[in-house]
Amino acid sequence: MSAVKENAGEPVSGDKVRDQPETGAAPAPAKDAFFEISDIHAYYGESYIVQGLSLTLNKGEILALLGRNGAGKTTTLKAVARTDVPEVKRGEIWLDGAPLHEGRAYQAALAGVQLVPEDRRIIEGLTVEENIFLAQVAQGRGWELERIYGHFPRLAERRKQDGVTLSGGEQQMLAIARALARDVKLLLLDEPYEGLAPVIVQEIERILLEIKEIGITTIIVEQNAVAALKLADRAAILDTGLLAFTGDAQEVLDNEDLMQEYLAI
Ligand SMILES: Nc1ncnc2c1ncn2[C@@H]1O[C@H](COP(=O)(O)OP(=O)(O)OP(=O)(O)O)[C@@H](O)[C@H]1O
Ligand SMILES: [Mg+2]
Repeated sequence: MSAVKENAGEPVSGDKVRDQPETGAAPAPAKDAFFEISDIHAYYGESYIVQGLSLTLNKGEILALLGRNGAGKTTTLKAVARTDVPEVKRGEIWLDGAPLHEGRAYQAALAGVQLVPEDRRIIEGLTVEENIFLAQVAQGRGWELERIYGHFPRLAERRKQDGVTLSGGEQQMLAIARALARDVKLLLLDEPYEGLAPVIVQEIERILLEIKEIGITTIIVEQNAVAALKLADRAAILDTGLLAFTGDAQEVLDNEDLMQEYLAI
């Protein structure tokens, strides 16, 4: 296993983009990985949360991003999706050759990043189908409706139902379906299994494996670490904003100490 304890360098204040590597900074990223985070430092105001995180993923891989409450998992997903907060003061984020660190959420979405936040954000007063249509209005249109329904038969059955009246699991499926309607390359899922029965978790796992097969790359943040690790190829464990482990998901499942120390299992 490769256990990494990276110490944070002194962050550069002000500019969000580090355009020139500095002396003593992390090595320049290879940029040949499909997705790469290189030495990112993310802040909420003065609060320094993600402290020098680097990761790479190949196309179609699933990464389980794990760690205790407050470790910085959601912050990392937001940093990648380029939401207004947190502020990424230093580091680079690349997806399929696109420098996400140079743009904001809109550009990241155009480049193929879709964040499905914990609350799923289903729009009230719109049916299942209308929620999907709204996602298809965006540039870079993704899957057609019938393709989506082929992968989500439950949504097909409920296509005329108000989206917010769906069960939690169905809402999660709709949130993923909307991301697919937008031509996603990198799917960021924040606690998709929260509050769901095991049988529904299995259904979502099946869908995530199907979309992996067609080359969609996924980062899944989950409190249900075992389920996420069984699904994932790779794992990264955050510990108060630092990368405590990165490697194969199976290595974490096989390592009781790691599971206990960082995942409280
Ligand atoms: N908008 C914010 N403003 C200030 N601090 C924040 C904000 N959002 C999160 N934080 C802080 O950043 C740290 C990391 O939070 P984050 O939400 O990334 O953790 P997490 O790993 O997703 O935890 P959980 O498993 O509980 O969801 C926490 O200490 C949290 O209090
Ligand atoms: Mg979180």
